[in-house]
Amino acid sequence: MKRALSADAVLMREYSQHLRIASISGALVAGFWLPMRMIGFAPQLPFEIIFDCAISMVACVNVCLAFMDSGRSPRHWAGWLRPSVLLDLFCVIPIFVWSQFLNESAVTVALVFNLLSARHIRNVRPFLDDFDSLQPVTYRLVPLLVGLPVLVHLTACGWIALGSGTALKSSDNILTYVKAIYWAFTTLTTVGYGDISANSIPQMLYACGAQVVGVGVFGYIVSNVAGILARSDAAREHHMDNLDKIENYIRMHRIPNELRAKIRTYYHYMWINKKGYQDKTVLKDLPMTIQSELLLHINKPIIEKVPFLRGADPELLTRLMAQLKPRVYIPDECVFKIDDHGDALYFIQSGTIEVLARDGSVIATLGEGAFFGEMALISDRTRNAAARASSYCDLYVLQKEAFNHVVESSPTFRHHIEQIISERKAA
Ligand code: CMP
Repeated sequence: MKRALSADAVLMREYSQHLRIASISGALVAGFWLPMRMIGFAPQLPFEIIFDCAISMVACVNVCLAFMDSGRSPRHWAGWLRPSVLLDLFCVIPIFVWSQFLNESAVTVALVFNLLSARHIRNVRPFLDDFDSLQPVTYRLVPLLVGLPVLVHLTACGWIALGSGTALKSSDNILTYVKAIYWAFTTLTTVGYGDISANSIPQMLYACGAQVVGVGVFGYIVSNVAGILARSDAAREHHMDNLDKIENYIRMHRIPNELRAKIRTYYHYMWINKKGYQDKTVLKDLPMTIQSELLLHINKPIIEKVPFLRGADPELLTRLMAQLKPRVYIPDECVFKIDDHGDALYFIQSGTIEVLARDGSVIATLGEGAFFGEMALISDRTRNAAARASSYCDLYVLQKEAFNHVVESSPTFRHHIEQIISERKAA
C-alpha cells in the first residue's frame, strides 16, 4: 500500500529522481563517447563541443547528488574535499577547454578523468529504490544490464587502441568496432573462440586482464541471475509451501468441507492482502530503534484512520505503535463475548465489526478507523457487549497493560477515550 508523503518529500523525491536520470544518462554518454574519442572514432566538432558541455553539466549534477546523498552541507569544506566530489568538480570544466590550453597528453589525462564519471551508472540503484511496486527481479537485473554494455564497449575500445590483435585495424571503422565488440564479448564471457587473438605482448596481457575481469563480472551476473530465478517469487513459493502443508494436514485429520473452505479463504485473504508476510517474522531480526521506526511507518494507515490519533503527539504514537499487534478475523468470528474479562482494546484497520447486546441484537456496527473494547479496560469491569466480525477484519490489538501505560502517560489519550465512552453510553 502506498503511504502518503508530505508535499515537500514528494517534491524532493521527484527532484532527486530527475537528477539521477541526468546522472545516469551522463554516465552512459561518458562511458560510450569518451573511449570512442580516445581511439579516434568519434565525430569531429561541433558534436565534440556539445558532448563535452553535456558531460560537464552532468558533473554539476553529480556534485549536487553527492551532497544530497551524503546529507552533508555544501557550506562545510570537508564535503567538497572528498575524492569523488573533487573528481566531479574537475569534470565541470569541459574537455574542449583543456584542449585549448594543454598539450595532447594532458588532454588525455582530462579524458581519462572524465571517463571516470561513467562510475555514476551506479545511480541506477537509488533511482530504482523509489519505485515501490518494482519486482525484486527487476531491481537486481536492471543495474547489471545497464552497466554491462559499457563494460563491453570499454573493453572493445581498449582492444582497438592496442591494434585489434589478429583482426587488424581496417579503414572501415564500423567493421573494426564490431570485430572488437565480438572479441570483447567472447573474451569477457571466457568463451574465447580464438578466431581473433592477441599477437603482441600488450595485447596478450590485455586479453588476460579482460578474461580475469570477465570471470568476475560474468560470474557475478550468472550467480545473480541464478539467485534471481531461485528467488523470483519467494513470497509465492513460501505461500504455496504453507498451502501444501495445510492441505496435507486437512486431509490427514479429515477436516469437514465447511471448515476446509474457511481455512482456504483465510489463506487466500492473507495472500491477497499481506502477500503471506507476518509483520512479526519480518521485524524480529531488526534492532529495536529500526523496529519502532518501521512500525510507525507500517501502521500509518491506522493512525490516519483513527481521528484522535491523527494529530497525536509523535512520542505517544511511537509508544502506541510499538505495542499494537495486527490480527485478522474471519467473517462471523467472535472477537470477545459479553461478560468476558477485558484484556485488550481493538482498532479497526479494515472490515466491519458488529457490537451485540445480550439478546444478540446489533447495538452498533463499527468500520475503518473505529475502536472498541475500551469500556472494560477503563472501568475494570467485564465486557458490556459482544463483538463479532461481519467481514474479513484487519484489527490492531492493544493489550491491557500497554493500554494502561499509554492512558497513564497521555492525558489526551485518556480524555478521547472517555469522550467516546460517554458518547456510546448516551447512544
Ligand atoms: P467493552 O465493554 O470493553 O466491550 C464491548 C464494547 O462494545 C465496549 O467496550 C465498547 O467498545 C463497545 N460498545 C458498547 N456499546 C456501544 C455503542 N453503543 N456503540 C458503539 N460501541 C459500543
